[in-house]
Amino acid sequence: MDAGTVVVFTSYMSLFSGPLTQIAYIIQQLAQVSSNLEQVFDTIDYPLEIPEEENAMNLSHIQGKVDFNHVTFQYEEGIPVLTDFNLHVKPGETIALVGPTGVGKTTIINLLTRFYDVTAGEVKIDDINVKQVSLHSLRKEVGVLMQDPFIFKGTVLENIRYGRPEATDQECMEAAELIHAQEHILQMKDGYHHMLDERGQGLSAGEKQLISFARIVLKNPSIVILDEATSSIDTETEQLIKEALDKILADKTAFIVAHRLSTVRSADRILYIMDGEIKEQGNHEELMALKGYYYSMQ
Ligand SMILES: Nc1ncnc2c1ncn2[C@@H]1O[C@H](COP(=O)(O)OP(=O)(O)OP(=O)(O)O)[C@@H](O)[C@H]1O
Ligand SMILES: [Mg+2]
Repeated sequence: MDAGTVVVFTSYMSLFSGPLTQIAYIIQQLAQVSSNLEQVFDTIDYPLEIPEEENAMNLSHIQGKVDFNHVTFQYEEGIPVLTDFNLHVKPGETIALVGPTGVGKTTIINLLTRFYDVTAGEVKIDDINVKQVSLHSLRKEVGVLMQDPFIFKGTVLENIRYGRPEATDQECMEAAELIHAQEHILQMKDGYHHMLDERGQGLSAGEKQLISFARIVLKNPSIVILDEATSSIDTETEQLIKEALDKILADKTAFIVAHRLSTVRSADRILYIMDGEIKEQGNHEELMALKGYYYSMQ
């Protein structure tokens, strides 16, 4: 090989190695994008949303008045779950929904949060039909704690922050502390930085609920909905949560769906739902004195 060939070869090599490095860089970036996308899809793989009206308005600084006016709803054609259902809730009132399984308690909540739309009638928050409201602002003002909370792949802290994405680490931790979730979180291997699997595998149902409870505290919505919030937490934890809950709910409109009577006893108004209708309503003492359906649940 003569000197000229060596020069040409090395200059070709440098031309060649630049793009090679770039290709390697692009491959690395692609891997990163794909793992980020996976997280995104994990995150949005959650209840389908209903289309939003054009020019939808934003709910903000609401009082928390809720009205169901002549609401009829069916999931399937010809099988109504609610027929001409009426309910008027004052700002700050805590409403407990009780009654046998499958009578429509969760359905009532699904209509308020607009996971489904009414078949007839209207659901209003502060006299505004929820159909006219932007879903984003509705989700912000109405905080839901579901039976099986949504956990995504990420740390405990990230999962709590889902309640309010701009919250600081400190705020997330304070929220957890308020509802006594901190002691449970610190028992995990990496505490707040403990990595959770998608769907929260490896967490107990109670631990999942504590995380979603901390989210609600962080989010600080005007209306809070608890659907069987304390059902899978042991009695001691349930008591801790109940105390924090009483504080959190003090100035909020709240809907509590529960089979456990301890959780509903302190509600301002208990509704006994059956066949898609309110059969009895009143506070605990009133319904006990009535000696009707609620009384016979005890
Ligand atoms: N997505 C759905 N599609 C079709 N039918 C549904 C759907 N969700 C609920 N239903 C039906 O609607 C009725 C009311 O259900 P809902 O979940 O509101 O009851 P619930 O009072 O919350 O019961 P539980 O106490 O068991 O939670 C039931 O007959 C149920 O089978
Ligand atoms: Mg239910």
